[in-house]
Amino acid sequence: YQHRAAFPADFLWGASTSAYQVEGAWNEDGKGPSVVDMLSHPEGTADFRVASDHYHRFEEDVALMAEMGLKAYRFSVAWSRVIPDGDGEVNPAGLDFYRRLIDALCRQGITPIVTLYHFDLPWALEQKGGWLNRDTVEAFVRYARLLLSEFGDKVPLWLTINEQNTMILHPGAIGVPPDRELPDKKALYQQNHHMMLAQAKVFALCHDAFKGLKIGPAINTTSMYAETCKPEDAIAAHNWETLRCWSFLDVAVHGRYNALAWAYLQDRGIAPAMLPGDAGILQQGKPDFVAINYYSTATIAASRGDGNDVSPRAGDQQIMLGEAGVYRPAENPWVGKTPYGWVVDPVGLRLTLRKVCERYGLPILITENGMGAPDKLEQDGTINDDYRIAFLEAHIRQMQLAISDGVDLMGYCPWAAIDVVSTHQGYAKRYGFIYVDRGEDDLKALSRIRKRSFWWYKDVIAKNGNSE
Ligand code: BG6
Repeated sequence: YQHRAAFPADFLWGASTSAYQVEGAWNEDGKGPSVVDMLSHPEGTADFRVASDHYHRFEEDVALMAEMGLKAYRFSVAWSRVIPDGDGEVNPAGLDFYRRLIDALCRQGITPIVTLYHFDLPWALEQKGGWLNRDTVEAFVRYARLLLSEFGDKVPLWLTINEQNTMILHPGAIGVPPDRELPDKKALYQQNHHMMLAQAKVFALCHDAFKGLKIGPAINTTSMYAETCKPEDAIAAHNWETLRCWSFLDVAVHGRYNALAWAYLQDRGIAPAMLPGDAGILQQGKPDFVAINYYSTATIAASRGDGNDVSPRAGDQQIMLGEAGVYRPAENPWVGKTPYGWVVDPVGLRLTLRKVCERYGLPILITENGMGAPDKLEQDGTINDDYRIAFLEAHIRQMQLAISDGVDLMGYCPWAAIDVVSTHQGYAKRYGFIYVDRGEDDLKALSRIRKRSFWWYKDVIAKNGNSE
C-alpha cells in the first residue's frame, strides 16, 4: 500500500563523511600514520594526504552544513590523530581538533554522530598484526573510553566500526599493503572475531560508564534477489544475504554467531578460534540502534560449477562479487545503474529497512546512501547534479514508505556532506552536496561550491521530508 506517514518531528536529516576521506593533514600536529596513509592506491587517483582539507577548513564546512539546515553530521575520528600509535600516548592536539569541530557543530544546533573507526587503523597497530593480534581489542576499548569520556557530554550518538563486513569480505577495498599478500580467509575471520569482541566490549562500556549515550554498529546492509524462482537460486541468494549482512549484524545485536554462517565457516575450516569467555563477552554488549549503509541491492544465482562464479563486471561494487562454487552475481533487468555501475534500487532500501526492523526490532539510522558521479563544474560556476537529486529523492520516498510500514527510522545521513576522496576513484567520483574544487593531483584552491543538490536538500530538510 502507498500510505505515506510523515517523518517524525525529530528526524535527523544529516550527512556523512569519514576522517581519512575528508580531513587531510595526514601528518600534522602529531597525527600518526594510519593504514590508509601507508597502503598503495590505484595509480592516477588522489591520495588521502590532503583529501578535502577539512582539517583546516572545518569552520567553513560546518557553516555550510548549517546553511543547508543539517540536523546531524556523521563523521569519524582518526584513531591515529588522537593516539598516534594506537595504544600509547594521547595526542592533545588531536583531541583539540575534534573538540573544536564538535563545539562548532553544537553552536549551530547540529547533532554530532561519531564513528570511532572508519577503515583507518593506526599503522603502528597494523605493524603489530592489526586485528589479527588480540591486543588490538583492548587498544580499541581504551581508545573508545577516551573519546566517550572526552566528548560524551556533547555527542549523543556513537558508531563503533564502519562496514566491518566490507573490511572482512573485501580486504583489498581500502588499498593493498605494499609487498604484502592480503590475509587469507581464516585470518580474516579471526580478525572479524576480534572486531566483534572489541565492539561488544565498547557497547558494554558505553552503557555501564556513560549513561544516556546511544551506540550501534554500522554495517553495509542490503537485500539480495534471486535471479529466478528456481529454488537453488533462492538458496544462493539467501546464503549470500546471510554471509554478507546478517552474519555481522546478528553477532552485533544478538551477541552470538548466526547458525548458517557458523556452519559455513566450520565447513571451510575458517571458523575463528574462540577463547573461553568469548561467548560471554559477545553477550554482554547490546546496541541501542542499528546503523546501516545502503547503496545497492544485488541479484544472485546458483553456481554453475563452471569456475566462472567470481566474475567482477566492470564497475561493480566489489562487495557484490560471487564465490566459487557457492553463488554468482546475476543481472537484474528491473534496476538502474550509476555511471560507476552500482545498482540503483530505491525500493530495495524499503525492503532492507523492513528486514532489519523485523529481524532486530531496534531503531534504525541510515548512515550512508548516495550516488557517486563525475560532477561537472560549469563555466558559470554551477554544478547541476540533477541525477543525484533524483537518486536521493527516490530513496527518501521509499524511506517514508518504510516508516509507514512501521519501521522506527531515526535519521538519514547520505554520503556525503561534502566531496570526499572515494575509496578507489579519487575525486573523479563525487558524492557531496558541496563541491570541493580540486583534481587528482592539482589541488587548485580547494574552494567549496554549493551544488544544485545543496539547495534541494536544504528544502527537503526545511519541509521535514514532505515533497508537496
Ligand atoms: C562506503 C564507505 O562503503 O562506501 C565509504 O563507508 C565509501 O567510506 C563509500 O567512500 C562509497 O564508496 P566509494 O568506493 O565510491 O568511495
